[in-house]
Amino acid sequence: MTFDADHLAPVTLGTTVLGKRESANPELADALLASPFPQIDTSNVYAAGQSEKLLGDAIGRAGGLPAGKTVFSKVDQHPETGRFDGDRVLRSFEETLERLRLDRLPLLHLHDPYTITFAEAMAPGGAVEALTRLRDEGAVDAIGIAAGTRELVERYVSSDAFDAVLTHNRYTLVDRSAERILQLAAERDMAVFNAAPFGGGILAGSQTRGATYGYRPASPELLAFIERLHTTAADLGVDLTAAALQFSLREPRIHSTVVGIYSLERLQDLPRLTETQITEEFWSAVGELGTPPPSPND
Ligand SMILES: NC(=O)c1ccc[n+]([C@@H]2O[C@H](COP(=O)([O-])OP(=O)(O)OC[C@H]3O[C@@H](n4cnc5c(N)ncnc54)[C@H](OP(=O)(O)O)[C@@H]3O)[C@@H](O)[C@H]2O)c1
Repeated sequence: MTFDADHLAPVTLGTTVLGKRESANPELADALLASPFPQIDTSNVYAAGQSEKLLGDAIGRAGGLPAGKTVFSKVDQHPETGRFDGDRVLRSFEETLERLRLDRLPLLHLHDPYTITFAEAMAPGGAVEALTRLRDEGAVDAIGIAAGTRELVERYVSSDAFDAVLTHNRYTLVDRSAERILQLAAERDMAVFNAAPFGGGILAGSQTRGATYGYRPASPELLAFIERLHTTAADLGVDLTAAALQFSLREPRIHSTVVGIYSLERLQDLPRLTETQITEEFWSAVGELGTPPPSPND
């Protein structure tokens, strides 16, 4: 099997919080696996490994990964020491396979490599060499870079070492700062995952993360811009949550949008969000709101 960006499903289910909230975790993991959305995004570090473990338990209950389902994961730094060299990458991948009860993965990302420099990651014995070896040996079909620091992501993408990139909170109704990442990735025929189309929840009206955008406090200017978006949507009878998702879905350089789904209710609501018709009038009105204020992530 080879990894083919053009055959990715437009929506990937994100599981950062799976295992962090107390209610219905096994039920949610079963439902994520049984849902019509074929791709699930997790990571070695999410909920201290519980996200992968809950998915693996669900895979076990299902008698194996259901046909057509794929799970993407990420290698992470050592949780206590921050070590993130080639050996840590291999160990992280072993932990992931064990928890997920799988023997290989279609895609494995280098996740948030903030404890090492770019040079260290690319050096012999470093994280990228180990990931490349896993791909060469057939343990994974493709390798990606998944992170939030724009310049760092651009650098990893430009290295030509990766097949995929996951950027988050940088291509939304109120943030276009992934523009160069999208351009660099398109030039290299890389698969692009755009995560957090709701900026962590605020664009969907979720109060879970409070008045934050991209996990950081939103400035008064950004909150005012988001308020204007809500008013525009309400005036035109548009569901802003659906529009926030579809803003990402309609961008041709993005292959799949990773949406955080942390309850059965949100999962059940997801098909509606993808199917709701958003009028051209709304997209024009968004354009007329002008350039969004700077993101708290830049
Ligand atoms: N470095 C990385 O690799 C990286 C970084 C960030 C994200 N990601 C991936 O991307 C995924 C998504 O990121 P994210 O969860 O931070 O951001 P997000 O998808 O922008 O926002 C998720 C939040 O949106 C809310 N939401 C979802 N569906 C909704 C609906 N129908 N109506 C109202 N609110 C709704 C949920 O609120 P409630 O909590 O109220 O349900 C949820 O907490 C993650 O799970 C992860 O897989 C990866």
